[in-house]
Amino acid sequence: MNPPIKQTDSNEIDRIEYRNVTKVFNSQGKNKSEGDNNGKITAIEDVNFSINDGEIVSLIGPSGCGKSTLLNMGAGLYQPTVGNVFVDGERVDSPNSHVAFMLQKDLLLPWRSIRENVEVGLEIRNVPAAERRLRALALLEKIHLEEFVNMYPHQLSGGMRQRAAMARTLAVDPSVLLMDEPFSALDAQTKMILQQDLAQSLASENKTALMITHDLSEAIVLSDRIIVISARPGTIIAEIIVDIPNRENPMDRRQNQQKEMAMYIAELMKLLHLGDTSEKAIV
Ligand SMILES: Nc1ncnc2c1ncn2[C@@H]1O[C@H](COP(=O)(O)OP(=O)(O)OP(=O)(O)O)[C@@H](O)[C@H]1O
Ligand SMILES: [Mg+2]
Repeated sequence: MNPPIKQTDSNEIDRIEYRNVTKVFNSQGKNKSEGDNNGKITAIEDVNFSINDGEIVSLIGPSGCGKSTLLNMGAGLYQPTVGNVFVDGERVDSPNSHVAFMLQKDLLLPWRSIRENVEVGLEIRNVPAAERRLRALALLEKIHLEEFVNMYPHQLSGGMRQRAAMARTLAVDPSVLLMDEPFSALDAQTKMILQQDLAQSLASENKTALMITHDLSEAIVLSDRIIVISARPGTIIAEIIVDIPNRENPMDRRQNQQKEMAMYIAELMKLLHLGDTSEKAIV
């Protein structure tokens, strides 16, 4: 990552900022009928938002509206066509180690034990063996995998593997966690348990996260704020502050804040035209 350095308000630290971000893809090689003009697809158009230190923000929007593209630009895997992305005030112009990615697939290395998998990022950063071992074991204990630290990925269930992936993501102590539908492959109950583990880990480590989900309840129970993106070209159509207590306890939000939850779900459904009997539904 290189300058320019962004001017920030000294009281509020933006961990990540998207400023006037537009991304146009060349659609050649992809489904050409999707192309808007001259074989080009505008995935994301003039997106502006930032996330403060310790904040958790969810992105929701219809399939193909550019959510993953936004995350990839945050990680420096793609460059915006127009605009800039900043992490900790520095422009992201290449893959950078200040962010950590968590995907739907756990991508654990099959030949390494669970502990060794959690240590991967620390190893790349040349953290001494004893130190990375301690960090990995502490995180694995926190997310209830202490009995499985010496096992290999194939010996664990899908939920456990995803938990290990969560520990691996947290291990490198990133400025921002970028999570692309991290729980969408899990069954409903496992998902709730992992949401709880994630929320507690993020709170105890005071982490900042940007998460994509198609699950409206998941967005509400885990987030401080929800950004709703329109159908492609994706633009921000609403930013909703989730004003429900206990962000570190999603189970409590589900069990004891049902009225508020229902209100937010109704609002999001309206924005996404869900339940609309006309052809407007955009998810
Ligand atoms: N590398 C690429 N080359 C060309 N077009 C791309 C590329 N990556 C994404 N696109 C296009 O950009 C648009 C947005 O894709 P993206 O994967 O960001 O959507 P998404 O919101 O994450 O969708 P989903 O909810 O289905 O995961 C799509 O039309 C997609 O075809
Ligand atoms: Mg996606």
